[in-house]
Amino acid sequence: MKFFIDTANLDEIREANDLGILDGVTTNPSLMAKEGITGKDNILKHYVDICNIVDGDVSAEVISTDFEGIIKEGEHLAGLHKNIVVKVPMIKDGIKAIKYFSDKGIKTNCTLVFSPGQAILAAKAGATYLSPFIGRLDDISSDGLALIAEIREIYDNYMFETEILAASVRHTMHVIDCAKIGADVMTGPLSSITGLLNHPLTDIGLEKFLADYAKGNS
Ligand code: G3P
Repeated sequence: MKFFIDTANLDEIREANDLGILDGVTTNPSLMAKEGITGKDNILKHYVDICNIVDGDVSAEVISTDFEGIIKEGEHLAGLHKNIVVKVPMIKDGIKAIKYFSDKGIKTNCTLVFSPGQAILAAKAGATYLSPFIGRLDDISSDGLALIAEIREIYDNYMFETEILAASVRHTMHVIDCAKIGADVMTGPLSSITGLLNHPLTDIGLEKFLADYAKGNS
């Protein structure tokens, strides 16, 4: 399973990248705003800054909702850096745009996906990545992980090449469960990645090993 980090915070991106296990980055307009990155030029520059840190796919989201607007914006975003993936919302014009980008060899990430039907449409349009938001489904007492499992089954039935990018991952158990189900990619906050390191028996064991070494070498 590929690991993407879901943030626009450059320090967090650097920290995850320094671990050596980061495969890419996802962002969205809310994450940009959270970092105080506003205004078209600043946002475009920020995408390039991210691409200069991580050698992997970086999702940059369009804010247009009509076909022509999405195409114009997406082509501009794709021209910023070879690793940019154009993130397109799951709407009718978005599906048309994904098909257009797919025919042109431009990578896409279909975002704001909440149902298996939406997943089928995106795959048929040729999306590179599909982003079902599992945390937001959990937030409304729906089962985000069950959606990932349903989409996995459907995509495997037809050997769709679209990669399932589990998004709105909130914590380490989401990451582990996505891996068990067979999501192709997960994107989550830094804490969902670094939290995987933790186990108290590791800490206790290491403390003992170091203490015993010190006894024999004092
Ligand atoms: O990857 C999608 C993500 O940014 C949404 O996450 O936590 O706002 O639901 P969240």
